[in-house]
Amino acid sequence: MAGVTDGVFRSICRSFGAAYTVTEMVSAKALTLGDIKSKELMALSDSERPVGIQLFGNDPAVMAKSVAEALPFQPDFIDINMGCPAPKIVKIHSGSYLLRDPYHAGEILKAVVNAASGIPVSVKMRTGFDEGSKNYVEMAKILEANGAALIAVHGRTRERMYMPPADWTAIKEVKRSVGIPVVGNGDVFSPENAKRMYEETGVDLIMIGRGALGKPWLFKQINEYLSTGSYSPTPDNEARMQMMLKHAKMICEARGENHGMFDMRKHALWYTKGIRGSNRLRNQFSTVKTLSELEALAEAVCKQK
Ligand SMILES: Cc1cc2nc3c(=O)[nH]c(=O)nc-3n(C[C@H](O)[C@H](O)[C@H](O)COP(=O)(O)O)c2cc1C
Repeated sequence: MAGVTDGVFRSICRSFGAAYTVTEMVSAKALTLGDIKSKELMALSDSERPVGIQLFGNDPAVMAKSVAEALPFQPDFIDINMGCPAPKIVKIHSGSYLLRDPYHAGEILKAVVNAASGIPVSVKMRTGFDEGSKNYVEMAKILEANGAALIAVHGRTRERMYMPPADWTAIKEVKRSVGIPVVGNGDVFSPENAKRMYEETGVDLIMIGRGALGKPWLFKQINEYLSTGSYSPTPDNEARMQMMLKHAKMICEARGENHGMFDMRKHALWYTKGIRGSNRLRNQFSTVKTLSELEALAEAVCKQK
């Protein structure tokens, strides 16, 4: 998730049992122009492996060139974004725009697979560009034919953005129509939901986005539920605040306190979401500047009645 799943968050999710993680989407064009910030998005550490670098773009040649920029970071795989609905991405004919032209999407994939020197290439897609042009089975088949190692399907068209519910039937149809592994994505927020997605769609893995925001332990709970039928209770307020502070320390170590605490604000709001009485502290969480300020806020949250 752009702006969210940096190396620190990926490591945390992995430590709670996520099977693999993927970087924020990285602009292929920016990489080929030598953009430093885009390169920084590809920095990987062993604690997050297996991890993929996600690229977005529209031009097969540029996408192939960007793979050469990505490979030195030693990703376990390359992922291509064919699902992003954001207007600024669609405007440059990338992300979910590629669903409008499956043949061209296949050409992009082929170019990336050729450039990837044997490293697997996966694709993240939606079910179609708009409700009138759902072409997920056609897309999936073309992607498989052009060398995709795995397809992750977010069960929504671009038109539906994030509107619930996600279409799990479409995910099931994709799973039935290709032989490569299929990952189901959309609206998994609990262990029960995760199990239901496996049962209803037959997917090989499920992908979790928003459900992990401020709740990285969800991966552990899901794995426990799938293997034993029960799962550890959601951490109490004190344990949640401890996890938040651990996350904050990791971010500050990686990026320095100024930058780190700025990036931490949104995570802090997610970690405290729903905690009784934390509402009146939300303004302070959203402007917190130092680790010690955050520690004081965490203490105040724990004292809430
Ligand atoms: C803030 C935010 C940023 C996202 N950035 C990306 C991205 O960079 N690449 C991508 O493939 N999907 C991205 N997504 C989409 C998610 O990966 C996922 O497909 C979507 O949120 C549905 O899954 P969920 O219901 O588990 O959240 C993003 C979603 C959110 C909310």
